Amino acid sequence: MIRTERIVIVGAGLGALYAALELAPRPVLMISPEALGDGASSAWAQGGVAAAMAASDSPEAHAADTVSAGAGTVDADVAAMVTRVARDHILDLTSLGTPFDRDAEGGYVMSREAAHSAARVVRVQGDQAGRQILETLIAALRATPSAQVIEGALATRLETDGDRVTGVWIASSRAPSGEVLIEAPAVLLAGGGSGGLYAHTTNPPRIRGQVIGMAARAGAQMADPEFVQFHPTSFDIGEDPAPLATEALRGEGATLINRHGTRFMLDVHPDAELAPRDIVARAIFAETQAGNRPMLDTRAALGAEVLTQFPSVAETCARAGIDPVNAPIPVAVAAHYHMGGIAADQAGRSSLRNLWVCGEASSTGLHGANRLASNGLLEALVYARNAAADIATTVPLAEAAPVPVAFPEGGQDPDPEAVAELRRTMTDHVGVRRTAEGLETALRTIARLEAAHADDPSFLNMTATATLIAAAALAREESRGGHWRDDFPDPNPAMAHRTLLHLSEALALRMSVLNEAQ
Ligand code: SIN
Repeated sequence: MIRTERIVIVGAGLGALYAALELAPRPVLMISPEALGDGASSAWAQGGVAAAMAASDSPEAHAADTVSAGAGTVDADVAAMVTRVARDHILDLTSLGTPFDRDAEGGYVMSREAAHSAARVVRVQGDQAGRQILETLIAALRATPSAQVIEGALATRLETDGDRVTGVWIASSRAPSGEVLIEAPAVLLAGGGSGGLYAHTTNPPRIRGQVIGMAARAGAQMADPEFVQFHPTSFDIGEDPAPLATEALRGEGATLINRHGTRFMLDVHPDAELAPRDIVARAIFAETQAGNRPMLDTRAALGAEVLTQFPSVAETCARAGIDPVNAPIPVAVAAHYHMGGIAADQAGRSSLRNLWVCGEASSTGLHGANRLASNGLLEALVYARNAAADIATTVPLAEAAPVPVAFPEGGQDPDPEAVAELRRTMTDHVGVRRTAEGLETALRTIARLEAAHADDPSFLNMTATATLIAAAALAREESRGGHWRDDFPDPNPAMAHRTLLHLSEALALRMSVLNEAQ
């Protein structure tokens, strides 16, 4: 056990880095599973950050689009707060050195993405926003003496005393063998979402709901776990994780066609390819299921410019032997973003004392049942700052020496076969289209896998989050945003509210499913 006055930040993506900088000169200890900059979902974000930067746009219009995309469950006060401060965060990232794309007059170049009423997404070198913003923040962090980073470590459990978090257990992220308890005055969870719990995902390999599960197991309140966003256009080239073909391509006019050459979105929604993401995702899923091979066609809209304007997309095409200038890109739906997570108030506080949360691990009420594109990075920035400010009012400024951590040698990663079965189960039964029967099958499988690996805290964090998603999806007997039930295809106005629950309630529902089967 190690006692420190440092504030522990679990994670190393956008929210974690920004919070560490905001907290300076307060000493922080960041727990990063990979080398800094690797393995964070935010580094893979292609679109950018949504913010009303244009004179013709307004935070009110951005908030209205956020509420409308969220399908009836967005917290309007949260949407108003986040969109109001978006501009300040872009200006601050700019002054830190983020090389946002600019036009000839020096204005920000804006991408258009689905369900935005204006081109409103600030971008970097086309599709490089996540990586470039992260590199800017890492450079700033390296010059911040108050920040200590432990690379190659994974948080496995929270230590609690009643409803107060007193520390975090960590282990080596490579073949964890033994855990070390770090006792700290405050813990900020900024460790990403749950996409990797699914077999088809755009998230980095390590992002598998562990942080959400860890907080759930410690008794924190959860919100909206059933709402998972599936991205319509991941590359269908057999890679795990599936590379993203950013929605900004459709914003530039790229179309969706199937193997017959039919532009199928025209019959689905008046906004066609720029319909809300859940609608496009279900349409692509239906084409895949029907054997119609959906594809993203950038040829007419972008021609050879796709190669220079979208370098990540061009690089993936080159790797897969696709020439996007002359041929459409095969696409499929993939788990992309978890709207649900650890319930957080506007200061980023969880229901447990001394525990704050920001970014995809949190559920703030901003996204409702369907996140508006590029609101994810924005939410991470806003709540990292809010949480840092709140922590600073709670935790007195103190000196803290660097924390020495050494892990025992040896150990094992979670059983790869169990992880693979869990991921397949989530994709097959808790994915784009859900039924009571499938969700019950999933809950039984999750319970079996959990019982067989009860001594592996990392795996238990994954099964906790999987249980929350499947149980809340079973309880929500309607379709709304990213949550679609074949057996309840309509929205139920009486259910136009957020889900708030604890893991104990999800486990009780799982137990009743197990009992019914006997
Ligand atoms: C994309 O670029 O399509 C993804 C943006 C997002 O998920 O916010």
